[in-house]
Amino acid sequence: MNSETNLYEQLGESPGLRRIIETFYGNVVREPLLAPLFPEDIEPVIERQHQFLTQFFGGPPLYSEQHGHPMMRARHMRFPVTNERADAWLACMDAALAENGVEDELREFVVARLKGPAYHFVNTP
Ligand code: HEM
Repeated sequence: MNSETNLYEQLGESPGLRRIIETFYGNVVREPLLAPLFPEDIEPVIERQHQFLTQFFGGPPLYSEQHGHPMMRARHMRFPVTNERADAWLACMDAALAENGVEDELREFVVARLKGPAYHFVNTP
């Protein structure tokens, strides 16, 4: 892991992040706790997540340019996000990083970085 560059660069910028996010949603739609929450056409979700994680990891502010203030917790309010679903979401991401050959130290750092938001989005006991 290189502390001189941001996570967006370390994950391979746009194409690297794209591959990870595609793998991630492949995992999500096979996860029984998560799949029912997502639309059949997952492509637009992949696109918005790519824009969001680009800016979240230190790349250009693509999400805000297209959709305004992220307000991510508010955008998740219409879905019942439980603690178990946050665990499952993070596990799908952890696996997607590993499946794309992200080395352990970087993978663990990225998952730790996403843990805060994931549990913050929990809105249902
Ligand atoms: C905690 C467990 C989570 C669950 C169950 C969850 C579930 C969902 C669902 C159901 C959608 C809507 C898909 C649609 O468009 O119909 C969504 C959208 C999204 N989620 Fe999550 N999510 C979780 C965590 C996260 C985390 C940790 C992040 C990033 C830090 C994130 C980022 C996004 C983004 C960027 C979108 C698209 C927002 C938009 O519509 O513009 N989610 N999520």
